[in-house]
Amino acid sequence: MDDLHARIKTPPRVSTFLTRLLDNRAFTTFLARFGVRLSRAKGGPFRFGSTIIAARHKDVSELLHRDLDFLIAPINAARIEAVNGGPFILGMDRSAALIREREALYAALAQMDLAALETRIRTEARQRLEAGHPRFDAIADYARPVATATAKAVFGIAPEDEALFADAVRAIFAHTFLNLGNDSAVEARALAAAPLMHDWFSAEIARRRNTDTLGDDLMGHLLRQGRLDDDSVRRTLGGMLVGSIDTTASTFARIFCVVAEDKALAAHLIADWRQGRDIYGLCLDALRRWPHNPILLRKAAAETTLGGTKVRAGDRVIGWTEAAMLDPDAFPDPERMLPDRPMAPYLHFGTGLHPCAGRSINALQIPILIGILLDAGAKPNGALHWAGPFSDSLPVRISENRQDREA
Ligand code: HEM
Repeated sequence: MDDLHARIKTPPRVSTFLTRLLDNRAFTTFLARFGVRLSRAKGGPFRFGSTIIAARHKDVSELLHRDLDFLIAPINAARIEAVNGGPFILGMDRSAALIREREALYAALAQMDLAALETRIRTEARQRLEAGHPRFDAIADYARPVATATAKAVFGIAPEDEALFADAVRAIFAHTFLNLGNDSAVEARALAAAPLMHDWFSAEIARRRNTDTLGDDLMGHLLRQGRLDDDSVRRTLGGMLVGSIDTTASTFARIFCVVAEDKALAAHLIADWRQGRDIYGLCLDALRRWPHNPILLRKAAAETTLGGTKVRAGDRVIGWTEAAMLDPDAFPDPERMLPDRPMAPYLHFGTGLHPCAGRSINALQIPILIGILLDAGAKPNGALHWAGPFSDSLPVRISENRQDREA
């Protein structure tokens, strides 16, 4: 690994009392369950100093929909702009510029050939599984490289050094969205990675312009539609790419760990997968037990109320999505894992003005990653390890013995 790569790579997590507590699923689920009960009894969000915590589903949903009262730019814009060389929609509040860039992005996404992408993801996942069989790392050898390959196919850049590419994306994500304590080492890794990403995109856009081969991926569609100039195409693709790889690998790992501990759920998923039924609903329900984003943040623009609680201008407002997805008003019988709950109440991918733009890709990729691995009979074969906030390594084993596999 060269010096630049070493500077960018997120190191293994240093285990502390707090990280062990937050990694403890039984504890975080207990807290979320307790939080939503308390909030329902109180009849609204809690205030702790200048922080408001919304836990009921209707309060979290209202928080994310009232985008003129509860802003995202004060949360994300500065860090996004520092690493992305300009704004990106996830750091922009309602404005003409946001609408224009979102429209361009969604118009380009709508032109993607999702059937071809699905075939590609399936093939990649199967090949990775076969290459690793019978013992491999379900994150480092499977989910993360599959998500990286998907990102390359969607966004149009394919740097030769795949490990550097994935680690650069991770470093930028860690600072942009997870560095709430402004850790300078996390920031330094992102700032070292940012010029790489800028150059990968700029060089590829220039190459396509010069050769007049715009391509059929998201980059090609954005360039061809002509709604955004080339630098805006670069920032849009860069912003999207950052949130696409480790989110997918972590979401996969969380669902897989939840399922590995629940034989009935595993059997249900495997049976549905083998019968060709869509397992996405059940995956999202399993993810409620250990969500990728337990919270989403906003800042109050002016004095107002949320769910009856007074909010002051500048208050930090936390939407506790993990608690909200245990609220029986939105998820009746919330402890049960069901395959066919309505999609709208899930908050894994946000809601309101900034719902995840990767939803259609997630709906393909997550079930494929989970379904193929479970169908092969893979079981955890060691502990989950972390690099900073990212789930990084999860050893699995596929038994040669059919009975073991089915158990
Ligand atoms: C399964 C993995 C993923 C998870 C858990 C996830 C989660 C989220 C969440 C929670 C938000 C909203 C954040 C907020 O409101 O503060 C979001 C936004 C976004 N996500 Fe994802 N995401 C995932 C995968 C992806 C992928 C694969 C892509 C791209 C292909 C993507 C692109 C985006 C974009 C562009 C936004 C901003 C949308 C906007 O501002 O209008 N995400 N994601």
